[in-house]
Amino acid sequence: MKTANYKVKIGIVGCGAIGSGIAKYIEKNLNKDCKVTGIFDIDIRQARALQAKLKRKGIVKKDVTTLIKHCDCMIEAINSTTTKKIIKQAIEAKKTVLAMSVGKLLNSRNLFKLARENKCYILLPSGAIAGVDAIKAASLKKIKKITLTTRKPPQGLKGNPYFEKQGIDLDKIKKETVVFEGDVASAVKNFPQNINVAATIALASEAKNFKVKIMTSPHYKGNTHEVEMEGDFGRMTTRTDNIACPDNPKSSYLAVLSGIQTLKQYCTGILIGT
Ligand SMILES: NC(=O)c1ccc[n+]([C@@H]2O[C@H](COP(=O)([O-])OP(=O)(O)OC[C@H]3O[C@@H](n4cnc5c(N)ncnc54)[C@H](O)[C@@H]3O)[C@@H](O)[C@H]2O)c1
Repeated sequence: MKTANYKVKIGIVGCGAIGSGIAKYIEKNLNKDCKVTGIFDIDIRQARALQAKLKRKGIVKKDVTTLIKHCDCMIEAINSTTTKKIIKQAIEAKKTVLAMSVGKLLNSRNLFKLARENKCYILLPSGAIAGVDAIKAASLKKIKKITLTTRKPPQGLKGNPYFEKQGIDLDKIKKETVVFEGDVASAVKNFPQNINVAATIALASEAKNFKVKIMTSPHYKGNTHEVEMEGDFGRMTTRTDNIACPDNPKSSYLAVLSGIQTLKQYCTGILIGT
């Protein structure tokens, strides 16, 4: 039985921009409610670099299995083809998972079912968008239309094989250009590291008619996400002008803050919003 003073044990997989940001915040601001008991990165230098910035020592784990064993809640913040497998491993061990790579969890009914059976949570932060609270509520009735328009500067989109396949040279784009329009499955497949927010909207809305548009321009300063929704509840438009993470231009700073807030709500037991 956990006492009132119990601190939730957090294991962090992935010590990049998001994993490190969350770990440092926990030590500084959430230390009454939780503690980082394990960190792991496939690149040991990343894990050691994060360890050097934390007060709590001896927490670099040799593998994911050991990390899972020593935590109550695993934070997933990796860019990997094995993401879903790692999340499943934690759920099988009856551990709650806070997953940042939401795009990897589309079509994961079986995993969600397993979490329900194992009485653990899968926590999916809103990420770098506003309006997920309203989308969840609106989804209880009919959503007639829902779209996401994402605007990112070319450097934030680089590295996606999609552009080569389509013959698009991002360096040659001089004005605002639509580079992708389609459904969420195709968006997530073609932009695995860029469009987690699309997956979050898809899971929150369960809308079949959800459309995604991606635009770029060398004149954009940061990542902007615009959500438009119309349904039985009325109409909603949200626009988030994000500042990129200093350590990773592909991730928005709000995504780190959103991950931290989700963790805080889980550890303190106070859930605000829908
Ligand atoms: N939900 C959202 O709104 C949102 C927003 C931004 C980023 N993300 C996602 O969060 C994830 C992390 O983002 P980031 O900015 O911290 O990325 P990052 O590139 O800064 O860090 C990722 C880290 O994961 C490590 N890694 C890769 N494969 C691994 C594995 N199999 N096991 C352990 N470590 C592994 C890398 O070495 C790296 O240190 C990405 O998948 C990204 O797509 C989600």
